[in-house]
Order: sequence, then structure tokens, then C-alpha cells
Amino acid sequence: MAEKRKIILDVDTGSDDAVAICAALLSEELEVLGICSVGGNVELKNTTDNTLRVVELCKRPDVPVYRGAELPLVSTLEPWSNQAQVLPNKEGTHDQDNAVHTDHLPLPPTTLKAQDKSAAVWLIETLLSAGDGEITLVPVGPITNLALALRADPRIIPKIKEIVLMGGANNVYSPTQAAEFNVWCDPEALEIVLQSGVKITMVSLDATSHACLTWEQAKAIRDIGSPAALFCAELIEHRLRVSEAALAGGKMGVVGAALHDVLAVCAVLHPEVLRTEHVSCHVDVGHGYAYGSTLLNRNYKPIDMPKNCWFAYSADTELFFGWLYETLKRAAE
Ligand code: BDR
Ligand code: CA
Repeated sequence: MAEKRKIILDVDTGSDDAVAICAALLSEELEVLGICSVGGNVELKNTTDNTLRVVELCKRPDVPVYRGAELPLVSTLEPWSNQAQVLPNKEGTHDQDNAVHTDHLPLPPTTLKAQDKSAAVWLIETLLSAGDGEITLVPVGPITNLALALRADPRIIPKIKEIVLMGGANNVYSPTQAAEFNVWCDPEALEIVLQSGVKITMVSLDATSHACLTWEQAKAIRDIGSPAALFCAELIEHRLRVSEAALAGGKMGVVGAALHDVLAVCAVLHPEVLRTEHVSCHVDVGHGYAYGSTLLNRNYKPIDMPKNCWFAYSADTELFFGWLYETLKRAAE
């Protein structure tokens, strides 16, 4: 069997993060060295706890979880209190039933604990002791931990094989009219990462919005019947309900369940799942209306700027679903 690809996940778990963790932990082709948590979809204490619950579900207590940054580098935003996805319920109030992310995932509490070391410190130590180009990073939340590590010890740069991150947008935006959630949570952090010189693939909101799953596909995953597959199916079905409610209520939304983060895991193993372009990308860090928007310079005009990332515009949904289904199914056998 071919050597497994070594990855580190960085998550703000979160429902789609949870599916990404399941797929990564259950993939025969990936070796997950550890998982870093960060505040984002919900508060850090919840993203960490949710991550541990998923690790337990996948029966992988051997994979360490490191608590990361609670807040963005510069912005004083508290992203989790600003969930654009929360819709009013019948009484006109807000509850968590209609939220894409709830404080607690629908999993039993776990006795697993996060490691003592903080995520950025562990990232630095792990990368420094690795060979050149040995480890792939897969950040699918606000990218604060990696930015901290890069600033604290840039000697980690050559150790990183590549960064395949979920974040950024070109034509599809949420939660603001100009920015995607992960970048909007910590724009300065992504700009630091984009200036690192590491090979970066940005699995943007445009790409993940292309790769939406259907009720039929959720059922196929449910029919696998394993605890992880049932859990993933439940999350996909919840997202389907939320997006249908949004569309019915006249809100902007996608048709189907966008599972953003797991597309980045798929892209590590199957880069062909993405339609990418090599571009220059920078983040608006100006604290105005466009704060956190990802600005692409695709054709070197009007300013000649070095290309620093592979930006994904769309994705192959069939390939994506086929991979997710097979990964969950093989692990159930
Ligand atoms: C990203 O934002 C979060 O809500 C999701 O987990 C995903 O990482 C999509 O914009
Ligand atoms: Ca996420």
C-alpha cells in the first residue's frame, strides 16, 4: 500500500468540519497527525469539544486534539455571535434548530480531552521535527493558528508540503456582501498565510457551493449504516433542511447541502476534483465594507503581482460525492 499522506487538520467544528474530520480520520490514504481547534462557527470551547466528540465517534482517540486560538489576530469580532445562517423561527425569535452550526454536535459527550499544549506551539514543534515538504496542512476554519505559527517561527515554511484550505470567495459571499466566513473571521491571518510562499490551494465558497449534496445522496450515506455514516447523513440532512427553509423564505442560499470543509480533504487526495486557476490573491484588511474579501488578480493587470495560490472556482460534484461515499463505506466494512 502506498505511503499515507500526512496531514494536520485545523477546524472550527461546526457541522461541515465534523464531516471533514470523519472523512479524514476514516480515509485509508491519510494519516492525521493531529487536529487543531479554533474559535469560529461556535466558541473555542465548543469547537474543541465537538472535535473531541467526532474523534471518539470515529474511534480514533490516538489522534491528538490541540486547543487553538479563541479570537482572531486583530479584529475584535466574535464571529460565533454573528451567525448569518441563523433564521428566525415561527415565533420570530432565533434558536439553534435552524442554525447550520449548533453549540453541540448531535453526539454524546466525550471523556476525551484536548492536549495541554496550544495548537500554534504544537504546530511549530511538529513541523520543525518533520522532513522538508512532509506535512500537508488542511485548515478549514479561521486560519489564526497557522498565522501565529508562521509569525513565531518561519523555519516551519519549508516543512509544509502544501496548504489546502477552505476559505475565500470570488462570486459567492457569506456572511457579508464581500467576504467568506473563514476569511471574514480573521482576514489578517489569511493574508499572512498568503504571503508565506507555501503552495496554497484555496477551496473557495464558489467551489464548495458547486459541490452540494442531495437528499438521495444523503440517503445513500445513511444506508451505509455505520455510526460515522449515520452521523454524516444526519448533518447533511440538517443542512438540506436549513437551505430549503432559507430558499423558501426568500433568502439567498444554495440548492442542496454545501459541505464546504470536506471538499478540502477530498482535494488533498484528488486535486482534480477542483477547477483551479493560478492567481495572485490578497485579502482586504482595511476594516471597511469589504473587510475579509479575497481579491484575485487573474491576468496580471493592471499591476503585475506574483501568483501565490491556486484558487478553486468550481468542483466536480460526482467525483466529490463518490469519494466521500467510498471513504465512509470502506471504513464500515
Ligand atoms: C466555512 O464557514 C464555516 O461556517 C464552515 O464551517 C466553512 O468552513 C464556509 O464559508
Ligand atoms: Ca469550518
